[in-house]
Amino acid sequence: MLAVYAAAANADDPLAALEVGERPEPDASDGWTVVEVRAASLNHHDLWSLRGIGLPEDRLPMILGCDAAGVDGDGNEVIVHSVIASDDWRGDETLDPKRTLLSEKHQGTLAERVAVPRRNLVPKPAALSFEEASCLPTAWLTAYRMLFVKAGVQPGDTVLIQGAGGGVASAAIVLARQAGLRVWVTSRDAAKGEKAVELGAHEAFESGAKLPERVDAVLETVGEATWKHSLRALRPGGTLVVSGATSGQAPSAELQRVFFLQLNVLGSTMGTREELARLARLCEASGIRPSIDRVLPLSEARDGFAAMDAGDVFGKIVFTP
Ligand SMILES: NC(=O)c1ccc[n+]([C@@H]2O[C@H](COP(=O)([O-])OP(=O)(O)OC[C@H]3O[C@@H](n4cnc5c(N)ncnc54)[C@H](OP(=O)(O)O)[C@@H]3O)[C@@H](O)[C@H]2O)c1
Repeated sequence: MLAVYAAAANADDPLAALEVGERPEPDASDGWTVVEVRAASLNHHDLWSLRGIGLPEDRLPMILGCDAAGVDGDGNEVIVHSVIASDDWRGDETLDPKRTLLSEKHQGTLAERVAVPRRNLVPKPAALSFEEASCLPTAWLTAYRMLFVKAGVQPGDTVLIQGAGGGVASAAIVLARQAGLRVWVTSRDAAKGEKAVELGAHEAFESGAKLPERVDAVLETVGEATWKHSLRALRPGGTLVVSGATSGQAPSAELQRVFFLQLNVLGSTMGTREELARLARLCEASGIRPSIDRVLPLSEARDGFAAMDAGDVFGKIVFTP
């Protein structure tokens, strides 16, 4: 079958490690099933994998991709939850020390078919297209958990979302607006800031700009380039939720600010199967939908990877086999 895979690791030039070609059909062992992929979305995680981060060389070649929507063996339209917990794990899958994401240990979703544990399937609401549904399992689920499980915000609060153009950030903008928050964003690119306002942000600022007032919560996926600004943007007792560090992970911790202003700094990763099911129902009930930058045939996946590597994306890139 056609698949997009990492054939090597290349820390400096991830696209050099990318292959689009034939890979063996997936095998569904006990408790697993094969999903016919109708759409799969790209995440920054796939670029990290090509750089060799989280994907050791002894697991190569590895089909990339965490996210898919498709049809299971019984003909049901499904969304794939990407967090694979141990067989005997019960409760929040993201807390299983042995959990992996699809494409880390088991072959990923950027293919015509993917094998997944049956318990990882979530019904796809009929109102969502396969392309829209394929955006939910990583970027949207991560934004959902950051906002609704970790940030402790209430309607009427103000949230700052760093790096408006990203998959997680653009999801957070739509979710936060839907939840009745005042939504402020930053971006390196004024045009992305404008798009963020069209999407629902109340105001867009240049990266690092002084804000009109302090915010209740910050959602951080950019890392080093925005960390200082994130801590400075928070009101005393405010909450910073971090789930990514695209620009680097060694900023000054600003410990004095953290303790003196009693800031909460919380890590967040993906979300549970149940949170993914709730997110899908939220999209169905509210009419909100993922912002899709472009849809490409799987055979042209390299163009999507190149756009993400260059930062030339607003929202999600989706591939269709
Ligand atoms: N922990 C988890 O479960 C989890 C889940 C999903 C993602 N993540 C991580 O979160 C990060 C974002 O993921 P994504 O899929 O949303 O990525 P993406 O779509 O490629 O977005 C990249 C983001 O980086 C921002 N950015 C701002 N300044 C940057 C700089 N100096 N250098 C590089 N990028 C900069 C971009 O904002 P502008 O272009 O608007 O400035 C944009 O928000 C990644 O590091 C990813 O690994 C973690």
